[in-house]
Order: sequence, then structure tokens, then C-alpha cells
Amino acid sequence: MTLVDLVEVCTLSEVPDGEGIKITIEGLPALAVYRVGEEVFVSDDLCTHGDASLSEGELDIEDYVIECPFHQGGFDIRTGSVAGAPCTRPIRVYEAWIKNGLVYIKKQDL
Ligand code: FES
Repeated sequence: MTLVDLVEVCTLSEVPDGEGIKITIEGLPALAVYRVGEEVFVSDDLCTHGDASLSEGELDIEDYVIECPFHQGGFDIRTGSVAGAPCTRPIRVYEAWIKNGLVYIKKQDL
């Protein structure tokens, strides 16, 4: 994997440990970037159940689950799979890398 294959999303230090932040990059859907210690996960920010921003939800760092702020549905931030009703459709997740304090996702994943 070279840097040419990657898109810079944000700096690691922008993402508070145990939380998610919303990142907007021109031409892409809004992204949610979550941090659990030194691990980073990236998903679409929009909940699949409604018009909610997942980065504004509560992150359960034990189970890697983001709880939607609207109806408390949940998703596994590692896989995007549904982790709690009323959500029924998974969210899209992107493989993330950290290099030199910057968070990247793969261009092919976009
Ligand atoms: S909008 Fe996310 S659970 Fe309803």
C-alpha cells in the first residue's frame, strides 16, 4: 500500500479517545472517524435508519458499538454490522490506516 492509494481523512489527534468525529471531504459522503485507544475506525456518518449523525452518538469502547443518537440503534464500527434495533441495514465501513499521525482510508473503498 502506497500513499497514492490512500486518502487522508484527518489527524489522529483530532479524534478524542473513545469518541467519534464527523469529517467532510469534498465529493465523498460524510464520514465518522472513531478512536479506541490507538485504533481508528471509519464509517459513513449517516445512520441507515434515519437522518442521524453517528459521530454524535455514544461509542461503547468495550464492544466497539456506536449507538445512534436518534433511536439508539447500534452498529459495530469494525464491520458495520447492525448491533442494535431498530437498525436493520449495516453501515458502510472503510479500512483505516494511521501513518505519521494521520488517518487514511483506501481510495478503492470510496
Ligand atoms: S436514525 Fe439511527 S437509529 Fe433511528
